[in-house]
Amino acid sequence: MRKNILLIGGSHGIGFEIALKLYSEHNIFIASRTNENLGNLEVTHIPYDASKDEIDASVLPERIDGFVYCPGSINLKPFKTLSPLAFEEDMQINFMFLVKIVHNLLPKLKNSDQASLVFFSTVAVKIGMPFHTSIAAAKGAIEGFAKALAAEYAPQFRVNVIAPSLTDTPLAKRLLGNDKKKEVMNNRHPMKRVGQAEDIANIASFLLSDNSSWITGQVIGVDGGMSTLNIN
Ligand SMILES: NC(=O)c1ccc[n+]([C@@H]2O[C@H](COP(=O)([O-])OP(=O)(O)OC[C@H]3O[C@@H](n4cnc5c(N)ncnc54)[C@H](OP(=O)(O)O)[C@@H]3O)[C@@H](O)[C@H]2O)c1
Repeated sequence: MRKNILLIGGSHGIGFEIALKLYSEHNIFIASRTNENLGNLEVTHIPYDASKDEIDASVLPERIDGFVYCPGSINLKPFKTLSPLAFEEDMQINFMFLVKIVHNLLPKLKNSDQASLVFFSTVAVKIGMPFHTSIAAAKGAIEGFAKALAAEYAPQFRVNVIAPSLTDTPLAKRLLGNDKKKEVMNNRHPMKRVGQAEDIANIASFLLSDNSSWITGQVIGVDGGMSTLNIN
């Protein structure tokens, strides 16, 4: 069946890679602030800024089968330099805007036989990492939200979370900005490389497909072994 899949974000990074994988088989709607990167890709772009706008539901189909929320942040600083406002901002973009849009889209998600929702966390929720207090807190909220939502709406919706480690996308460019940084980051991972957007898009595509119809309420680490292996 040709599904209607809404990507909040999808103009670049992991969301774009998901769109590339799925556009030929499904109807893809990308809601984001920019669309220059989309070129002639056969998707429907909806101008949308999660921090300002309500999504224009009238341009969306009545039935949404797949939903992915991509906006996020990597705000790594010592706790003492992170103001409460910085925590609030991370909470807004990662978590609160997600809650708001899922709430708005409930009627369209309920029109699907079994909607699949995919959110993003981070490896830094499962293992404590210095300088991650704000982002780990915001992504931890997503993990709790996703499990509770999955329980409340089973079997109608499936809700799963992908928890990546460092992945080479525009969001991570400050951490991977030169060869030295890349080498250090590659070596931190048991698999000796950071993630590529495609590594994460592969699992997201699976979670959006019927092949994962018995998987819900999961937080899936896609992290080059970072969250579970200690090889030092
Ligand atoms: N990359 C990593 O290392 C990494 C690691 C762990 C977790 N994650 C998580 O994985 C998810 C995807 O990350 P990514 O690396 O693909 O990020 P990215 O490269 O920054 O892409 C984010 C996407 O979301 C859109 N977006 C951002 N702010 C938005 C807003 N206010 N309103 C509407 N759309 C907005 C962007 O489009 P526009 O700019 O066009 O609006 C873009 O399409 C994030 O939640 C991130 O926290 C990433």
